[in-house]
Amino acid sequence: MTATTAGTRTTAREGTTTPGPSRATTADGPRDPARPATPGVDRTPPPVRFLDLVPPAALRDELEGALLRVARSGRYLLGPELEAFEHEFAAFAGARHCVAVGSGLDALTLALRARGIGPGDEVLVPGQTFVATWLAVTAAGATVVPVDVAPGTHLMDVDAACAAIGPRTAAIVPVDLYGHPAPHPELRALCDAHGLWLLDDAAQAHGARLHGRPAGSWADAAAWSFYPGKNLGAMGDGGAVTTDDADLARRLRRLRNYGSEQKYVHLEAGANSRLDELQAAVLRVRLRALPAANAHRTAVAAAYGRGLADLAAAGRVGLPVVTAGAEPSHHLHVLRSPHRDALRDALDREGVPTLVHYPTPPARQPAFAGLAAARASLPEADRAAAEVLSLPMGPHLTADEVGRVVAAVCRAVLAVDAGRGAVEGRHRPTGRAVADRRAAVGRSPSGRPDARDPSEEFRLRPADHRDPPDHHERGVRTAAGAPR
Ligand SMILES: Cc1ncc(COP(=O)(O)O)c(C=O)c1O
Repeated sequence: MTATTAGTRTTAREGTTTPGPSRATTADGPRDPARPATPGVDRTPPPVRFLDLVPPAALRDELEGALLRVARSGRYLLGPELEAFEHEFAAFAGARHCVAVGSGLDALTLALRARGIGPGDEVLVPGQTFVATWLAVTAAGATVVPVDVAPGTHLMDVDAACAAIGPRTAAIVPVDLYGHPAPHPELRALCDAHGLWLLDDAAQAHGARLHGRPAGSWADAAAWSFYPGKNLGAMGDGGAVTTDDADLARRLRRLRNYGSEQKYVHLEAGANSRLDELQAAVLRVRLRALPAANAHRTAVAAAYGRGLADLAAAGRVGLPVVTAGAEPSHHLHVLRSPHRDALRDALDREGVPTLVHYPTPPARQPAFAGLAAARASLPEADRAAAEVLSLPMGPHLTADEVGRVVAAVCRAVLAVDAGRGAVEGRHRPTGRAVADRRAAVGRSPSGRPDARDPSEEFRLRPADHRDPPDHHERGVRTAAGAPR
């Protein structure tokens, strides 16, 4: 998707922004806020970026050192960096084994294949997700059976999953969408009761926890993506499967390497899907920095929640719902509005970049037009696709930028309401959802927001994290899709 906003070009699936013509752009590129103001020069702050893929200054030396170390080593595949990363990421994810592969899609596909799931098997997947969850099932040769998401949470509806189980069902693949853990204990119980395999699509959930346990650790296996825009992102593609199952891990190692355990002996028709040494070295550095980056995301989410609580309580916008016991990774911060497109346009005029994750559910994609799954009734997934709107989110955001986004959303919602001349069709949260949101944003039971200054929660990085414009052009992947 390519979306043009005031001051930014939004060009990646996860919303990578690159500097474009802007009221805050000088002839030298975006102004560096660390530079002293020059009399007579426009003091408009630089535009808020949806996401920033440029390594923060604090990690730059370490990352460059790691890249150089690999470049000079002569070992580029299946070497010591991969082995070390697999150990470190397994520990982080609360699993005994980690097998790192070429992408998140491969992690899902190869995990299903390693379990022996293929033609004749049915796999339950959520109706609202990034298309890869569905593509993996078809790539493994199995049949997609979509399950609608629960209202408000965007996560697989457990009752609907139960109703979808049939004699051919082999597995359930829930998604921790936007970094919010799926209802794992309930799905675990369902799988145990029916003898099904549980594979968590944890591509957006690095560091998320549910009832104190890492998101991926509830399932038989979890598939991860290290796409650059993820909370734990590589400088290219990458993915991994974590599991406690030693046999599954062994078969995955074979499948990712041409079906081979011994050179020129191919036990099965495997793939070439190995996380390379450069990416593994990068990910080891970034994994160490992930807890602090995730804490910053949590602070951003809390500040958004507090700033937008009154709008939400008035039913003007829906906030992310944090379910009981969940500690999300806050990969994306997704609002709901029945007037999403008008709100997005109003924010565009305010200079706030937004994205839609995802505008077309997999069931409505041409790729699945021929499948029975595409004819499934998924009303919540369809409604979500029409209403979701992602705000800027990431460790790059300063307290000032978050405050500007909150103010812009408040103005934009009022402008949209004024433009409509009425407030019919407001988003009305359920009582449970309001309680969950209050818990998430630290409001008192009386509903009064607490008076903490958001900047206290941010360990703000110095202003030098702004980078020269050419850096912003790197690591950007343009997704297919019509421009907005
Ligand atoms: C929920 C989900 N599943 C799977 C994937 C696929 O990951 P990758 O892009 O690394 O193939 C992604 C990544 O965008 C994702 O968000």
